[in-house]
Amino acid sequence: MLKIEGLEVYYGYVMALKGITFQVKEKTITALLGANGAGKSTTLNTISGLIRAKRGKIIYKEKEMTHEDSSRIVKAGIVQCPEGRMLFPSLTVKENLLAGAYNQTKRTSVLEDMEDVLKLFPILSERRKQMAGTLSGGEQQMLAIGRALMASPQLLMLDEPSLGLAPKIAEQIFDRLIMLNKERDLTILLVEQNANAALAICDYAYILETGKMGLSGKGKDLLQNPLVRQKYLGA
Ligand SMILES: Nc1ncnc2c1ncn2[C@@H]1O[C@H](COP(=O)(O)OP(=O)(O)O)[C@@H](O)[C@H]1O
Ligand SMILES: [Mg+2]
Repeated sequence: MLKIEGLEVYYGYVMALKGITFQVKEKTITALLGANGAGKSTTLNTISGLIRAKRGKIIYKEKEMTHEDSSRIVKAGIVQCPEGRMLFPSLTVKENLLAGAYNQTKRTSVLEDMEDVLKLFPILSERRKQMAGTLSGGEQQMLAIGRALMASPQLLMLDEPSLGLAPKIAEQIFDRLIMLNKERDLTILLVEQNANAALAICDYAYILETGKMGLSGKGKDLLQNPLVRQKYLGA
């Protein structure tokens, strides 16, 4: 569904992505792992069209998207749930969800989509009139995912959804992602520092190492890999 070929990205003169290549197959959960500063967010932001690649290609459904603008990328079905959630803290849950539907034109389908999201995260339904800034960390993450779903993604990219959450809450978030993938055929590109959790739920994973692609393989295989265990799983 998505092919990244030889992607190079710079911040000024500093090369953040040094020619990375990977792919996301349709209907899979694909994980992009790596330590802090490895280039995970840069990768997602480049796919979303927020940062420009210097070299390389982004191909989505056989079409080159490397130089497309971000609003067209969202329209094409690639939607990012950003690191740090980026909610509007003084807007309500409902208003934040509606903000995610800015690219939708039919009002009726927007309302249906919102009901759908509220079913997926019932706690958000209870809190629909509450300001986003007053929610717990886990609820805010659910809202950030819900807002991304309001843009009707075919490929949902999540940047560290478990960051700062208690393990139990993170587990609930991962459960929802599995459900979206299995029951709604949503393709997911999951960026995580929590390698253990991500490898356990993904079909395939890639490990970024300071802007270069390192090991890759099936999630279950990488979980067993001694090198991965030593370096990323603290075993
Ligand atoms: N806006 C920026 N300006 C300059 N350097 C940046 C910027 N954003 C990220 N970097 C650098 O690029 C590298 C990759 O960062 P990032 O993609 O955020 O990593 P990750 O998401 O894996 O933690 C890091 O060395 C980081 O310091
Ligand atoms: Mg990051």
